[in-house]
Amino acid sequence: MKILVIGSGGREHALLWKLSQSPKVTQLFVAPGNAGTAAVATNVQIGATEVARLVEFAIKETVDLTIVGPDNAIAVGVIDAFREKGLKVFGPTKAAGQIESSKSFAKEIMQAASVPTAKYQTFADYGTAWLYVQRQNLPIVVKADGLALGKGVFVCHTLEEAGNALQKLIPQGTVVIEEFLEGNEVSIHAICDEKSFVLFPPSRDHKTIGENSTGPNTGGMGVIAPVETPGTGLGVIANQIVAPVLATLKGSATFTGCLYPGLKMTKTGPYVLEFNARFGDPETEVYMRLLKTDLVDLIMAAVDNKLSTLSVEWHSGFVVDVVLAAEGYPGEYRRGDAIEGVQQASDIKGVVIFHGGTQSSGSDLITSGGRVLHITALGDTLQRALDTAYKAVALIHFQGMQYRRDIGVSELRAHRFSLI
Ligand code: AMP
Ligand code: GLY
Repeated sequence: MKILVIGSGGREHALLWKLSQSPKVTQLFVAPGNAGTAAVATNVQIGATEVARLVEFAIKETVDLTIVGPDNAIAVGVIDAFREKGLKVFGPTKAAGQIESSKSFAKEIMQAASVPTAKYQTFADYGTAWLYVQRQNLPIVVKADGLALGKGVFVCHTLEEAGNALQKLIPQGTVVIEEFLEGNEVSIHAICDEKSFVLFPPSRDHKTIGENSTGPNTGGMGVIAPVETPGTGLGVIANQIVAPVLATLKGSATFTGCLYPGLKMTKTGPYVLEFNARFGDPETEVYMRLLKTDLVDLIMAAVDNKLSTLSVEWHSGFVVDVVLAAEGYPGEYRRGDAIEGVQQASDIKGVVIFHGGTQSSGSDLITSGGRVLHITALGDTLQRALDTAYKAVALIHFQGMQYRRDIGVSELRAHRFSLI
């Protein structure tokens, strides 16, 4: 099979890495890819939202299957365009993808499906939003209604912070203001066809740039999997969150692809913070290492509406991802710095490195994005996986490199005896 992956981050590198292990694959393309993907696939210089050129390429190269990574590609209707031409493609239509691209649409669906989520209101002008914020408890959460690469959410601990967030977001469009939910975060991935879905093991992303949930939110600075969902089995999440939302979307916006609810495990059970309509990044980097089943079989089963006949298998143990980010990220960040030590770090047993924002410059590897590298490690315990990952991190260097040293630490503390 010839497979095309759309996107250019660590998520796409991880998908390609896993696809490259399938005996069913004859050729892999990625549009546009990065320096890391070039080692496992052919990088094609077409951007993720250049819909017409992507379709044209898939037809010309007789691509058998396309997997779409990023949210913005889904939001501009890449899946719809591929389907119109009769091409096999994994992901939701633009209409179904609104569950991610419009927070107000997601909230309406959750309300209709009776899915627990934070109380909220939507505002289009600063004056009314500011009056509302002043009457609420702190902390309070201010979000851009549309896509913002994980960076349009401000958890505000003071009124001043809330005012600043509103001043930043209101000129860009509608904002959603919602109550702050307390609890551990969990990422859920449901692979969905038109009739059924399968759940991946729960994982945990670490969203803020700083340790201990400090500093602004990023696209994600590190992931551990699997994690427990105390008091709530996966069955509850399937029956009370995923299934009702899929049922509500059925019809004009039937969802297929990867539905990824971000949850908060509150004292009163799981609440949905947001829905994503795609694979998580960096969750995918971890999932692809844990997944035992051939990814081609899984994706083809979803595309052909045969998921209910597939049993998905996972490796035992734990996988972690520590993200190495460029100086300045998640704001304006440095680019063009030489990266050293990737080969030595990759040689450590249990380590696989996925590239995010990297580029080749002659024989050198240089930084070209905010999240530069994903250092993933497998271990039979969480502690061992983390030790291995951080050993690899210590061998890598680029100017201004930032990473969190506390990935998985709260989970280790909570389960001191079972995971070490
Ligand atoms: P979102 O893109 O909506 O998932 O928000 C990004 C991150 O902001 C989440 O992963 C949480 O860490 C935080 N966040 C968003 N909404 C809330 C909320 N209502 N309560 C607490 N934290 C939140
Ligand atoms: N892990 C965060 C995201 O993919 O949105």
